[in-house]
Amino acid sequence: MHTLRITQPDDWHLHLRDGDALDTTVPHTARHFGRAIVMPNLKPPIANVEMALDYRQRILEVVPEGMPFSPLMTLYLTDKLSVSEIAKAQENEFIHAIKYYPAGATTNSENGVTDINAVMPVLEEMARLGLPLLIHGEVTDADIDIFDREEKFIDTILSPLLDRIPELKIVLEHITTSQAVQFVSEQNTNIAATITPHHLLYNRNDLLAGGVRPHFYCLPILKRDIHQKALGDAAISGNSRFFLGTDSAPHARHTKETDCGCAGIYSAAGAIELYTEFFDQQNALDKLEGFASHFGADFYGLPRNTAELVLEKKAWSMPQEFRFGDYTVVPMRAGEEVEWSVTEVTP
Ligand code: NCD
Ligand code: ZN
Ligand code: ZN
Repeated sequence: MHTLRITQPDDWHLHLRDGDALDTTVPHTARHFGRAIVMPNLKPPIANVEMALDYRQRILEVVPEGMPFSPLMTLYLTDKLSVSEIAKAQENEFIHAIKYYPAGATTNSENGVTDINAVMPVLEEMARLGLPLLIHGEVTDADIDIFDREEKFIDTILSPLLDRIPELKIVLEHITTSQAVQFVSEQNTNIAATITPHHLLYNRNDLLAGGVRPHFYCLPILKRDIHQKALGDAAISGNSRFFLGTDSAPHARHTKETDCGCAGIYSAAGAIELYTEFFDQQNALDKLEGFASHFGADFYGLPRNTAELVLEKKAWSMPQEFRFGDYTVVPMRAGEEVEWSVTEVTP
């Protein structure tokens, strides 16, 4: 198959950043995706409804003409988020979820949750109202190996949380392990997971073998190939609880190419093309549309997009870098070929 027509996809996990960076990040996503769940880990974090609505306006200002893109906003769960703010968020048509970062787990997570028991009333209110909780699922204990932090989170935090509030709607974000695949598969239909293009296409050898490659460094960190395989099998399985979320997370080049580099991979410049490449490698192009364009919308209770995207197996070369405010950002596949192209977006 060399041409593929699918319902326009959505990105269920995206970092757009703020300020001048939006001039780059927003058009990259808006030209192919109809909607995106926008992560709230700015400095300071998007911690209430008013901040989310202001941020939404800043995003909309730079959406190019003729690209009807809808940013779906989220709030950052701090220890201080109130039960009344949850009700306000639920009532607002532009706010779709609350994001849980364990404090210290990842980029700009300092204001995250320090003790899950402290936010229990907020989580119970979310369950009552049907507002989804999006989780960065890694423990932060210094004595837990970085490659084991997702599995440990599932065992010690997530599993007890589901026992305590089984009605809570949860998306386990950017899953990276076979344990996460198995856990989500075995649970009831309230829990789903997003999978990134980099965790499908790469493993920790790409990060570490033959030299350390900072542009492959992200959190949760790339795992060994058996986990990559489990994620791939989940993505192409047709199970509607695994869907697309790029976790495209740009950082200026100099903040990654340094002695203590930032975590995050910028995939938005070729995201749907890279996913398509993966599904093609797996001989599973017929499973792409569900994963990319149907399952996420269904889980969030939103209508599926009506626009369509046409992809062709026609290689193009990813630029070495893009402007990123006053700096530059290095995209996933920089200077190398991407096998598929988007040739048309039809309304
Ligand atoms: C993300 C970022 O840079 O905001 N980084 C990453 O490595 N994934 C944060 C996150 O999603 O954990
Ligand atoms: Zn994360
Ligand atoms: Zn992320």
